[in-house]
Amino acid sequence: MVLKNVQQDPAYGKLLREVLDSVYGNLDPSFGGMHREEAFIFISSPNSVTPYHLDEEHNFLCQLRGTKEVSMWDPRDQTVLPEAQKEYMLQIWHDPAYHRNMKFQESFQERATVFPLVPGEALHFPVGAPHWVKNGPAVSISFSITWRSKLSERQAIVYFVNGKLRRIGLNPVAPGHSAFRDSLKHGLFHSVRVLGRVFGGSWLKKSQAKWA
Ligand SMILES: [Fe+2]
Repeated sequence: MVLKNVQQDPAYGKLLREVLDSVYGNLDPSFGGMHREEAFIFISSPNSVTPYHLDEEHNFLCQLRGTKEVSMWDPRDQTVLPEAQKEYMLQIWHDPAYHRNMKFQESFQERATVFPLVPGEALHFPVGAPHWVKNGPAVSISFSITWRSKLSERQAIVYFVNGKLRRIGLNPVAPGHSAFRDSLKHGLFHSVRVLGRVFGGSWLKKSQAKWA
């Protein structure tokens, strides 16, 4: 069970603010433009499993009760997450038929870092890092704090554009390797979006909700 947007409650809102202010104070200024700050409470059955997936936002998972074991992969690990799959995950994010779970292969597990979590501990999930989670033998309660940044938004846009470029037969460079190309794709995205608004184009419709 998940309780969403619990930051709307004043007590949880205060907690979210305190945690994020502390985090932001230690972040590189290049992250910039923090937004969509949200908090969730996850209540999970003993031994339940959250399947293999990735998330597009920054996340801190704080363990309150019970235990969890998080298997996590480097988001740059092409063995478990080829660029094309990452682009695909971002293409379909807001599709009503979207299913976030990804295909898992047993051979991936040896490349994972496994983090046991007990009450009082927290774990940072980097943007786009694949993971799956197994609860311990007791009911688990976790508090999750998520937010977006200009950096995460920019990266998501480059993946989105890369997916489009791959579909027309190109082999685009992943974000982070060339500031010039990233900037070009970012500009392309916004230019096409503006044109889409003017002329009623459809290919960015799904993205408009995402990066509005
Ligand atoms: Fe997740």
